[in-house]
Amino acid sequence: MHFLRCRSTLSSRQMMPTILSRWLITISVCLLVRTALAIDVSPDDETSLKDAAKTVASAMMDFYNDRDSKSIPGKMDDTWWEGGSMFMTLIQYWYLTGDSQFNDAIQEGMYWQKGENDFFPSNYSQYLGNDDQVFWGLAAITAAELNFPERDNQPSWVSLAEGVFNGQIPRWDMASCSGGLRWQIWPYQNGFHLKNAISNGGLFQLSARLALYTKNSTYAEWAEKIWDWSASTPLLRKTWVIADTTSTAADCKDHGDHQWTYNYATYISGAGYMHNYTNGAESKWLEGVNGLIKTSDQFFPDSGAKQIISDITCEPINKCDRNQKTFKAYFTSWIGFMSLIVPTETTADLMARFKSSAVAAGQQCSGGSDGKHCGIRWTKKAEWDGTVGLEQQMSVLGVLNAIMVPFKAQGPYNADNGGTSKSDPHGGTNTKNTLGPKDVETGDKVGAGILTAVFIILWVGAVSWIVKAE
Ligand SMILES: *[C@@H]1O[C@H](CO)[C@@H](O)[C@H](O)[C@H]1NC(C)=O
Ligand SMILES: *[C@@H]1O[C@H](CO)[C@@H](O)[C@H](O)[C@H]1NC(C)=O
Ligand SMILES: *[C@@H]1O[C@H](CO)[C@@H](O)[C@H](O)[C@H]1NC(C)=O
Repeated sequence: MHFLRCRSTLSSRQMMPTILSRWLITISVCLLVRTALAIDVSPDDETSLKDAAKTVASAMMDFYNDRDSKSIPGKMDDTWWEGGSMFMTLIQYWYLTGDSQFNDAIQEGMYWQKGENDFFPSNYSQYLGNDDQVFWGLAAITAAELNFPERDNQPSWVSLAEGVFNGQIPRWDMASCSGGLRWQIWPYQNGFHLKNAISNGGLFQLSARLALYTKNSTYAEWAEKIWDWSASTPLLRKTWVIADTTSTAADCKDHGDHQWTYNYATYISGAGYMHNYTNGAESKWLEGVNGLIKTSDQFFPDSGAKQIISDITCEPINKCDRNQKTFKAYFTSWIGFMSLIVPTETTADLMARFKSSAVAAGQQCSGGSDGKHCGIRWTKKAEWDGTVGLEQQMSVLGVLNAIMVPFKAQGPYNADNGGTSKSDPHGGTNTKNTLGPKDVETGDKVGAGILTAVFIILWVGAVSWIVKAE
């Protein structure tokens, strides 16, 4: 971008000696400008990190404020779930920096999209997946754990997270694979016949965090049940490899093996919360944390000297879709906060690699018209990958949040150590949206019957029209 602009100044010159001197001036100006590009990240200097995070978050919010659907708080163009994950990273940002300039937007968006206190708003619920919904629940439990301000006459953050839990548990599907959540909720959706890692791992993490926050053992029992069920399928193998999906048709014995950072992070983080909740009494949780951190080494490829995180399935081939561009935010920030409650060598080692990743991410923020917008391929460092977007900003904000955590060294709060958000185990249960799979299937059959009838009427009509026309 900058080189192009510099060049065009040059080509408008006419006389030969002028061309040369102008050219030299242009070159030196360009070099000066270039050193000012990108975002400097000094990982051991809190002020530098706060500045960097502010630049990154502000550019993210510019994208948010400029969207087509800006009249609907919290709703992004062509996606709903990313609103939840964006607010999650912004709540972390507020907590770690003290910068409250986005708090009104966060509250407005979160409350607007709360549905019937379960983040399943009727505008979108007919095409949402369990994973979409759980990200809003994770944003809500983050708000609770960090004492993010609540508004009067609104449900508490923790009760909204409980609302998501209460909405999802009835969807636990014993009709296939002896358990598990399906990816999509409705039979007419493509992913209905799949059970996937992020839906099950997402509810696992949410349950574990609710257990630690509320100390209600029901949440811990569910967390363990989801973990154990996952471990009975390729979604959580004994070799600590996580499959992305498995299908009900194959009784959850097959596996779609694309490797994604966020699948690992959601199981690692949930296991970390369970480790802390159980006071280290059950070795399975720490074994899980350590085992999955080890297999996550794959996300630190040679191209970044094994220090820079990469979503290796899509980044090297430039094929990350907008969802995938956000995944690194979750891996880094979830594990960043988890490091406070699981202070082990393995988490410390990962936190060290997040520092290198954050420096590289800052270098990758050298795009756009201001030379400060971020690309997604951090392993390319200062060689900007040519992309800009809200998702790229979110990922960089996530890794900056992660490495700011040690400066704060407090939280996640819970009901016993200063968490002020009030639990309501029955949150969200007055909704009409908490259909179990059985109700869904009945509804689907009725729907399919109507569709068939309509089709036959149309077909008969078309045939008689053809016959008449002849
Ligand atoms: C649902 O759609 C209506 C009409 O577009 C809009 O006014 C409202 O804000 C939407 N609600 C949510 C929760 O997005
Ligand atoms: C759980 O987290 C707290 C910090 O909130 C920490 O002091 C404690 O040592 C952790 N427990 C275990 C078993 O690591
Ligand atoms: C714990 O959570 C369960 C499930 O939501 C609820 O039924 C129960 O009342 C809760 N127990 C307490 C003591 O709040």
